[in-house]
Amino acid sequence: MNIEILQNISTRLLNKDETMPYGLLLDADPSMEAISKYLPSSDVYVTISEEKIVACFVLYTIDARTIEIKNIAVTDSLQGKGIGKFLLRQATQIARDKGAVFLTIGTSNASIGQLYLYQKEGFEITAIKHNFFSEHYPEPIFENGIQCRHMLMLTKHLS
Ligand code: COA
Repeated sequence: MNIEILQNISTRLLNKDETMPYGLLLDADPSMEAISKYLPSSDVYVTISEEKIVACFVLYTIDARTIEIKNIAVTDSLQGKGIGKFLLRQATQIARDKGAVFLTIGTSNASIGQLYLYQKEGFEITAIKHNFFSEHYPEPIFENGIQCRHMLMLTKHLS
């Protein structure tokens, strides 16, 4: 982790009437339609560096025991410096403080780096939503030369 960067960033809950960081949200989820569905009933956390929003994550309460990270993104120029890992730990702490037992996150079968990061941070693959991307997204999406077809759900047990 880049300690110097992490010392100079702070994360806060965005108020519902503030401008949403759509650029970042769309980096993680290319469907504005999907984002618009979960955003009104989610909490959006933004990470600030030098007065600019450089990262965000979105938490959605599924039930009393389960919170889902619906979206997580770090601005291009700051990726690979440990901020994503730091945000996953912040999301874990927030979910624990809310009394959740499970924290879930979904990613595609082609998102190799994300699958690596999430498993390294204690998430385990617990479900596959077959053909989620091919059925719900109008255009085919490719990552690492592989088509994103299925959504892999990963879960972290918080106790
Ligand atoms: N490819 C390869 N490795 C990746 C990776 C990727 N896309 N994303 C993270 N990693 C690895 C890093 O190499 C690092 O490994 P290490 O701990 O062995 O050094 C580890 O995961 C942590 O990386 P970190 O620097 O904390 O990640 P980040 O700040 O780049 O944030 C994302 C990770 C995924 C949030 C960020 O890359 C991003 O915003 N991507 C675009 C949006 C997106 O895909 N969101 C997730 C949708 S499911």
